[in-house]
Amino acid sequence: MQSELVRSHKLTNETPKKIRSFIRRQGRITQGQQLALEQHWEKYCLPPDQPLVAQTVFGRNAPMTLEIGFGNGDCLAQMAAANPEKNYLGIEVHRPGVGHLIKQLEAQRLTNVRIYCHDAVEVLEHCIADGSLNGIHLFFPDPWPKKKHHKRRIVQPDFVNLMVNKLQTGGYFHAATDWEHYAENMLTVLSACPRLTNQSPDKFYCERPDYRPFTKFEQRGLKLGHGVWDLIFCKR
Ligand SMILES: C[S@@+](CC[C@H](N)C(=O)[O-])C[C@H]1O[C@@H](n2cnc3c(N)ncnc32)[C@H](O)[C@@H]1O
Repeated sequence: MQSELVRSHKLTNETPKKIRSFIRRQGRITQGQQLALEQHWEKYCLPPDQPLVAQTVFGRNAPMTLEIGFGNGDCLAQMAAANPEKNYLGIEVHRPGVGHLIKQLEAQRLTNVRIYCHDAVEVLEHCIADGSLNGIHLFFPDPWPKKKHHKRRIVQPDFVNLMVNKLQTGGYFHAATDWEHYAENMLTVLSACPRLTNQSPDKFYCERPDYRPFTKFEQRGLKLGHGVWDLIFCKR
């Protein structure tokens, strides 16, 4: 069966479809979000096909932290406001969320955040230089709870390797989830990476550090009675 599939790809010259961690849905967009996208796209959003030159984009060199899948961006805006000495990058495919974040950046006059509205895997591959990030945040990634969808979960060995390449030595990866099975799966994948060290004293999970605000999806999970698991690993 598999060889038939391979043969048919060869015959039609098609490349197999990429498995992505998201499904592009248009969703509802408010007038304010749409306006924010139209008026300020150029100011905040970066092209996903060009290497990032942080000095040019931010007008300074500073420690740079990336949040993948920021949702509505509340958490990213809060962290950027609390740490004006740092540069922040956010990646999100959902346009209403990008519009929501831009509105907040404008309202709070935050100048230390830039955005990619694109697939995080491709942005990491094409835009972010190796060793350039001091931290990567992945808060409440889509859990893809059904077994047949587990392959869509973003935390996979190849993705972890890609992320670790982008971290500077001593830089950290911080994930949080309210799905126990995904937490266990992340713990296995991250612990198996020889370039990472688990920051948890017992080599399992960490307490939520004060720097991480509660996110929208976390609050939704907590209302449903879910637990929350934080994982923090540093690059050796
Ligand atoms: C469950 S939501 C969590 C949002 C937010 N972090 C929170 O905790 O409220 C996951 C988000 O990740 C985004 N996402 C999933 N895969 C992505 C990818 N490969 N690149 C960029 N964004 C992605 C989705 O669009 C979605 O908004």
